[in-house]
Order: sequence, then C-alpha cells, then structure tokens
Amino acid sequence: MPTRRKNQVAAANIVRSAGWLFGALIFACSPLPAEEVPVTTLAHGCIACHGADATPRGGEIPPLAGRDAEVLLDLLQAYRSDGAAESTSMHRLTGGYSDDELAALAQYFSEQAQ
Ligand code: HEC
Repeated sequence: MPTRRKNQVAAANIVRSAGWLFGALIFACSPLPAEEVPVTTLAHGCIACHGADATPRGGEIPPLAGRDAEVLLDLLQAYRSDGAAESTSMHRLTGGYSDDELAALAQYFSEQAQ
C-alpha cells in the first residue's frame, strides 16, 4: 500500500476512534434518570443541614425525622413554587427535584425515628 494511502487509512481510523470515544464520554456523563436515584441518596443532601434524626440543629433548620409526610410534602412544594413560602435556602434547593422525588423524600423522612 502506498504511504499516502496508509496515511489516509490511519487518519480515518483516528477520526472513527475519536467518534467512539466522544460517544462513550457523552454516555458516561449523562445523568441517571430521576427514578433511578434511590431516595436514600437524595436524602443525603438534606441530612447535611437537617440531620438524620429529630434532634433540632439549632437556629433556623428544623428537624424532619418522624414528621407527617403530607405536611413535609406541602412545605416542600410551597418552597418550590416561587414565593409561596418564606425561605433562605429551601426555595433554591427544591427546584432541583421532581414531584415524585419530593414525595419520596417526604415519605422517607416521615419514616425516620423521632
Ligand atoms: C443548606 C442547608 C439545607 C439543605 C441542604 C436542606 N435544607 Fe431544608 N431547610 C433549610 C433551612 C434553613 C430551612 C428553613 C427555611 C429556609 O430558610 O429555607 C429548611 C426548611 C425545610 C423544611 C420545612 C420544615 C418546617 O418545619 O418548616 C423542609 C420540609 C425541608 N427543609 C426539607 C428538606 C429536604 C427534603 C432537603 C433535601 C432535599 C433539604 N431540606 C435540604 C436548610 C436546608
């Protein structure tokens, strides 16, 4: 095979490999569909501020454990709908969760020991 032809084949192979690599990267970086994120994983982000139990953290952060699931869900939905509930942090946080995820979080915390 003449050198020029070899170079063309090599270049085509590089382009093809780069395409595969790019595709693999896009796939690897795409987020999991919401329904595949376990509620315990979602709750880790809440526990950082609210704690894992019903012990008050002091200041402005109320505990969530053992509270009524419906009340928690109402509060979360109010934070998410602009201006419906006064908030320093929660209106920013709740925007990132779907209805199902908020319901799952409310249920999860209601089942935690008081
Ligand atoms: C950065 C700290 C922080 C994180 C993280 C956080 N919260 Fe909050 N949360 C607060 C604060 C502060 C309040 C009081 C309202 C306000 O100022 O936003 C609050 C209030 C609440 C309330 C209302 C409780 C009541 O009795 O009024 C609920 C329900 C709640 N958070 C649920 C959650 C859930 C569920 C998560 C996880 C998705 C979460 N929070 C993550 C800080 C946080």
